[in-house]
Amino acid sequence: MPIIAPSILAADFAHLAQDIQLVNNSKAEWFHLDVMDGVFVPNISYGMPIIERINQLTDKTLDVHLMIVQPERYISTFKAIGADILTLHFEASTHLHRSIQAIKTEGMQAGVALNPHTPVSVLEDVIADLDLVLIMSVNPGFGGQKFIENTYRKIEKLAEMKAVHNPNLIIEIDGGVNIDNAPKLVATGADALVAGSAVFNADNPELYIEQLFYS
Ligand code: DX5
Ligand code: ZN
Repeated sequence: MPIIAPSILAADFAHLAQDIQLVNNSKAEWFHLDVMDGVFVPNISYGMPIIERINQLTDKTLDVHLMIVQPERYISTFKAIGADILTLHFEASTHLHRSIQAIKTEGMQAGVALNPHTPVSVLEDVIADLDLVLIMSVNPGFGGQKFIENTYRKIEKLAEMKAVHNPNLIIEIDGGVNIDNAPKLVATGADALVAGSAVFNADNPELYIEQLFYS
């Protein structure tokens, strides 16, 4: 079964506690939390106070996806507010190896995210140190975008690298995931599926999460 990570970006911020409770009651194991700075991506989402509050309202894993420049500046801050997994972008990291080590030293699981144009091969020399690779299946910055089909090819290649270098690696897919593409994503090698708009726009989000879980 894949790990399901509902993206809170698509939640109703006026009724956030309700949406958190909905995820708490569901088969989702993780909360996916998208932090955007308006510089690395052309959008600004939410930051520390929201994540800190969510951490108080759930025992589930907090999977934090940083879409910000110089993410290394905030590693200890995200640990302090409850992040369990901290994922930063390859494209935003000049000293990626150092940042990965810093995340692990803080006691979090370390992830690296790749934009659609970035090949998985760039991770060859750090993959053994990683807990997770997040493949963006849309251009980062917004929820509700169309899934990019080339993602399957990237998962295949990453799955080959995983088998050789790091069998425990979690392959996470983020963007445009829904119950139509989830089965093929899982069959291709995805271990974790992020879903925002598909879950929170569903008539019954809890049931939708269950359908994703049984993909
Ligand atoms: C996009 C974010 C995603 C987003 C996914 O930049 O990284 O996590 O919330 O939203 P959907 O599932 O609507 O594509
Ligand atoms: Zn994300």
